[in-house]
Amino acid sequence: MLRRWMVLGTGGTIAGTAPSALDHTGYSAAQLGVRQLLHGVPGLQELLQGEALDGEQEAQLDSKDMDHATWQTLARRCRALLEQPEVGGIVITHGTDTLEETAWFLQLVLDTAKPVVLTCAMRPATALMPDGPQNLLDALAVVRDPLARGVLAVCAGRIHSARDVQKVHPYRLDAFGSGDTGPRGWVEQGRVRWADAGGWPSVHAHARQALALPAADWPWVAVLHSHAAVDVRHLNALIQAGVKGLVLAGTGNGTVHHALMAGLKEAQDRGVAVRLCTRCAEGQIVGQGQALHRSPPGLNAYKARISLMLDLMA
Ligand code: SIN
Repeated sequence: MLRRWMVLGTGGTIAGTAPSALDHTGYSAAQLGVRQLLHGVPGLQELLQGEALDGEQEAQLDSKDMDHATWQTLARRCRALLEQPEVGGIVITHGTDTLEETAWFLQLVLDTAKPVVLTCAMRPATALMPDGPQNLLDALAVVRDPLARGVLAVCAGRIHSARDVQKVHPYRLDAFGSGDTGPRGWVEQGRVRWADAGGWPSVHAHARQALALPAADWPWVAVLHSHAAVDVRHLNALIQAGVKGLVLAGTGNGTVHHALMAGLKEAQDRGVAVRLCTRCAEGQIVGQGQALHRSPPGLNAYKARISLMLDLMA
């Protein structure tokens, strides 16, 4: 069955306009219709891969003025849409000021396993660099994700649950937090990464060897970092000394100083197990195209070293 996705507009800064592209505060919220917002999103057709998308205006207000009657209209429309088998889920464009309240109300009254994703913007649509189109695109990526359930909020690449989401900043683009719980996930390059996707880690296939092999015979795996003015002699010394595995903590999105790259590829070709991760404290490498093998997603260099050491205990 062809799936259909609905985007319901309610106003907010995402639909706001200002006289100047440089004005992020002196704007009027709730000026553009939801169809105009959808037209302003590049990449929408590629994302939808032929699936149907409709926009509907349910309200047009600055969310500081949200009221119970609007909630009721919105919830009734959501319920009616979600009962239609072909409707896979709903995105709601909303002002940031009371987004968390609408999210929680909808979570309490909509009895459905299908996702309802609220999204928003901190800058008006007329800004030099508006955040609304990306947030809308991200919200559509989330609503279409097979693991998305219940009422969620998406802003600045982070996914929050209706229970935890809260506006925590009056100006910056990443204006929402989820308190102690943290976000439910992230949207990166159009892909959703759920915080709990890994589940409980399973016992390593070589656990038996790790307990039986004398510790002195465990494979030698070292951690190397890529950094400014890195010296390839560190790498050469490790290889000459017989290192079996190398975890390379790359800069940023797993980039490697050119002084190291050729030596690492050569080491990999000669049988040294090389694994690449990021030296950034949060997140993981996004996208494809690295010449080096990746370490398991989400592990820092020191944990990746342990995993690789056990991998090499075959
Ligand atoms: C609103 O909440 O409608 C205005 C403020 C915003 O969306 O950031």
